[in-house]
Amino acid sequence: MMQDALKAMVARAALAYVRPGEIVGVGTGSTVDKFIDALGLLGAPLAGAVSSSNASSERLRAHGIRVFDCAEVGELGVYIDGADEIDPNGCMVKGGGGALTREKIVAAQSRQFICIADESKQVPVLGRFPIPVEIIPMARGRITRQFAKMGGRAQLRCVDGEPFVTDNGQNILDVHGLQIEEPLAFEADVSQWPGVVCVGVFARQRAHCCLLGTASGVRTLAFD
Ligand code: 5RP
Repeated sequence: MMQDALKAMVARAALAYVRPGEIVGVGTGSTVDKFIDALGLLGAPLAGAVSSSNASSERLRAHGIRVFDCAEVGELGVYIDGADEIDPNGCMVKGGGGALTREKIVAAQSRQFICIADESKQVPVLGRFPIPVEIIPMARGRITRQFAKMGGRAQLRCVDGEPFVTDNGQNILDVHGLQIEEPLAFEADVSQWPGVVCVGVFARQRAHCCLLGTASGVRTLAFD
């Protein structure tokens, strides 16, 4: 089955986790776009959503779904988002779409993280997908050198020859060549480097459950 169809399948399956009358946390990316479209068709009324990017907020509003400011709401029941990679423990690489910082914030404010992904995202060890790291631009040189010491090659993300600018007005380094054997320790370490806004390894905010799109249907992976 085409990757797009697998994404649509898990996006629809995620509706089962959305309770009418609640505010749902919504991530970013092509899989989440399909989830938002499915939410738009949902008969049961939602109170609204907290979104992890300007792009998702726009799409939610286009469907008539109210978008709440994350700072104005309490704990959310569920956060639904895609991933660039997911390991056997539910740890993820995220930020391919550049929204990692807000994604981690909304995930941290949610009781349950439901990851929606096609089966190509499942990996034994994180790191084949370059690790996105949102940074304060003036720290780029030093952070690049620190990753080099770990064996990583950090590349400034560019679009049309210009540095990519996040919703938070910062840049992203994509770090190639790392194998993240210990995601929790890696995340804790890199998160403390001066100038790092957010590292796209989600270990503290790992998924509680993953709805994985496979050729034979949706597989539900639950993580302890
Ligand atoms: C955006 C993300 C996305 O969840 C991730 O890139 C997966 O995207 P897609 O659903 O398009 O494959 O982390 O920052």
